[in-house]
Amino acid sequence: MIKKCLFPAAGYGTRFLPATKSMPKEMMPIVNKPLIEFGVDEALEAGMTGMCIVTGRGKHSLMDHFDINYELEHQISGTAKEEKLKDIRSIMDNARFTFIRQREMKGLGHAILTGKELIGDEPFAVILADDMCVKDGEEDGVLKQMVALYKQFRCSIVAVEEVPDEETHKYGIIKGEMIKDDIYRVDDMVEKPEPGTAPSNMAIIGRYILTPDIFDILKDTPPGKGGEIQITDALLQQAKTGCVLAYKFKGKRFDCGSVPGYIEATNFVYENMYQE
Ligand code: G1P
Repeated sequence: MIKKCLFPAAGYGTRFLPATKSMPKEMMPIVNKPLIEFGVDEALEAGMTGMCIVTGRGKHSLMDHFDINYELEHQISGTAKEEKLKDIRSIMDNARFTFIRQREMKGLGHAILTGKELIGDEPFAVILADDMCVKDGEEDGVLKQMVALYKQFRCSIVAVEEVPDEETHKYGIIKGEMIKDDIYRVDDMVEKPEPGTAPSNMAIIGRYILTPDIFDILKDTPPGKGGEIQITDALLQQAKTGCVLAYKFKGKRFDCGSVPGYIEATNFVYENMYQE
C-alpha cells in the first residue's frame, strides 16, 4: 500500500569532513555496509520497492552503488568473494531506484518537495539515512511498525523518541495527546526549539510517513528555522487542518550524523550483525 520511500541525500555531511569532501555522507560505511543500504533494507522490509533518492552534486557513488559493476562482477565471479555481493544483489533484484537532483540546499522540506516528481500522488515514507535504526529483538523494523499504523489511521506519522532536555534543540519536537499506547495526536511541533523552550522531550527522528497533500503544503511553507524550508513546519500545518500522529517506536536508533553516534552504530553492528 505504501510502495515508495524517499531518501533525501543531498546534504554535505560537514561533520565528517574531510571524509565527506568527495564521498556522500550516505555512503559512509557502518563496518562494511553504507548507511543508505541500512535504510533501503528497512524500506524493503516494510514492503516498499520504489527507492526514490534526492541527490545533489558529487553524489554519483550513490547511484553506482545500486547498479551493476561489470568489471568487479567479472573479476570475482565464481570465487568465494562473490558471497560478499549477495545482499546488494538481492536489493537490486527487489527494488527499483530513481534519482532526482536537488540543485539548491534549501532544507529538508525543500528536499522532500523536490522528490514529488518521483513520488507522484500517493502516500510515501521518508528515511533520513543518517538516523540508523535497528531492531530490538524480534520486533519489526521502525518503518514496518509505522506502515501498520498507517493502515489503521491513514494520516501522516512521524517517529519520535524521548531525548534529554539538553538535546531538544537538535530536533523537531512534538507535543500531543496520547491516544493509545505510544501513539500521540500532534497538536504542536517546533523545529529545533531554543534551549529551555521545547514543548516536550519527544524528538522527531528520521522516519516519516507522509500523505501526498504535504506537497501542496510544502509549496506554500515559508523558510523557517535556519532560513530553510522545514518539513516540521509543513507537518504542523497538516496537523492543524487534519491529523498527524507521532509514534514512539520500538527499536534502537543511532544518530550517525554525529561522530559518537556513528561509532556507537559501528560497534553495535560489528558485535551483533556483522558476518565475516
Ligand atoms: C531533521 C529534521 C528534524 C529531525 C531530525 C532527525 O533535522 O529537520 O526535525 O528531528 O532531522 O534526525 P537535521 O538533523 O537534518 O538537522
